[in-house]
Amino acid sequence: MNDTALTLALPKGRLQEQSEALLAERGMPIEFEKRKLLATDADRRLSVMLVKNSDLPTYVHHGIAGLGICGTDVIYESGYSFFELMEMPFGSTRMCLAAAKGRDHESNSGRIRVATKFTRFAHDYFASHGVAADIIRLDGSVELAPVLGLAPYIVDLVETGSTLRAHDLEVVEELSTTTVVLIANPAYYKFHYRSIDALVDTLRGGLTR
Ligand code: PRP
Repeated sequence: MNDTALTLALPKGRLQEQSEALLAERGMPIEFEKRKLLATDADRRLSVMLVKNSDLPTYVHHGIAGLGICGTDVIYESGYSFFELMEMPFGSTRMCLAAAKGRDHESNSGRIRVATKFTRFAHDYFASHGVAADIIRLDGSVELAPVLGLAPYIVDLVETGSTLRAHDLEVVEELSTTTVVLIANPAYYKFHYRSIDALVDTLRGGLTR
């Protein structure tokens, strides 16, 4: 191992808990003091920063964090490219087109109106499928858009489907699957590849430390 700790960005929210659980299971428990967003593991192998999910690619792109754990959906939206070192054993989900239950989807002619957090994905998806779409950007609570009349369709992640069900919405079509990956800033990887490869082995459940 290098003397210096590797820098790792973790996303706040759903993936944080699962990321921390895996790190702990692999001998690198991270404990954030109350309200603090920076921490190191006991062996000072990792220096961890807790950032907003959608900001994570920005931190890794600029090399502030050399590594990050992030959904492929968020990476795609960022427009940045990274080395994807491994798929994490959690967090995969489906990107879906959804609408009010029982809506007659065949009667659509011309443009469709879609609300989403994933505007880049939605734009590229509909363009590549020859569908004319007006895309409205939202930053959360996307399921409200069809309920309140902002847009009849949404493109959003569906995990358990309970948020859709709670709003009388249904999946019209599954557009893609997303996974959670460990990413590296390419320049950072070149400088630290030995320690990073050892970390990946550890995370995969190997014995290298
Ligand atoms: C995500 C996603 C859906 C919901 C799907 O939102 O955008 O709204 O989870 O999960 P489910 O199928 O298990 O119900 P998130 O919780 O990240 O909050 P947000 O609405 O603020 O984006």
